[in-house]
Amino acid sequence: MTETVLKVKNLVKVYQPESVKPVKALQGVDLELKRGEFVALMGRSGSGKSTLLHQLALLDRPTSGEVKIKGVNIAELSEKERARFRLEVLGYVFQDYALMPELTLYENVALPMMALGVSKREYDKDVREVIEKVGLKGREDFLPAELSGGEQQRVSIARAVVNKPEILFADEPTANLDSESARAVMELMSDLVKKHGQTILLVTHEPDDERYVDRSLWLRDGRLVNSKVVNK
Ligand SMILES: Nc1ncnc2c1ncn2[C@@H]1O[C@H](COP(=O)(O)OP(=O)(O)OP(=O)(O)O)[C@@H](O)[C@H]1O
Ligand SMILES: [Mg+2]
Repeated sequence: MTETVLKVKNLVKVYQPESVKPVKALQGVDLELKRGEFVALMGRSGSGKSTLLHQLALLDRPTSGEVKIKGVNIAELSEKERARFRLEVLGYVFQDYALMPELTLYENVALPMMALGVSKREYDKDVREVIEKVGLKGREDFLPAELSGGEQQRVSIARAVVNKPEILFADEPTANLDSESARAVMELMSDLVKKHGQTILLVTHEPDDERYVDRSLWLRDGRLVNSKVVNK
């Protein structure tokens, strides 16, 4: 039996913006991901996809419900433990890239390693390798502002996978790429699942992406409405 790496029970997220009425972005989500599963998360704009990823990746705190990753109830972690857990176990590709503008491409990719206190001697090879894999070799010293949107997206992907996280969350990683780069990114992720047994939860609007995944989930108004087994 394949191991469950992530288990979510009755997850609720209510945003409470000042002077605006509360937004129920997630209304009771249950979800289970197994080791080595590649899962697509689909749904219209505003259905709660990014919100769900933020809660699962410890970037935000849910209003209620339970998230267990590798058996750890993440609500019980201290601030320091959360940060470390995120760096060691999780990878995240942000919808808006979230690169550090003052750091070079190379430094942006190396960031998770630096944050973990790994020395450059140890991470240099991995960083250069992953930069090559996403097709940006030779641009190591460029700043984000000197790159196109699609190129910045690829830097963000390289940064998310550089330390081979057990679970990778990717928020529309192919949305700003031309079809050839998009295919390269999907193949890179699909490779990660096959070679390293990583678990990937991928937000996408692209029906084409479905052929790479094991199953797809649909969010509507903060609820999972459909779970379709695609390729297994
Ligand atoms: N920080 C926030 N404060 C208040 N409301 C928010 C916040 N973030 C998201 N929302 C609201 O929560 C709902 C879900 O947003 P979310 O960003 O999760 O949607 P999404 O499915 O990722 O959409 P898209 O496909 O456009 O990226 C929306 O109604 C949005 O306006
Ligand atoms: Mg989103």
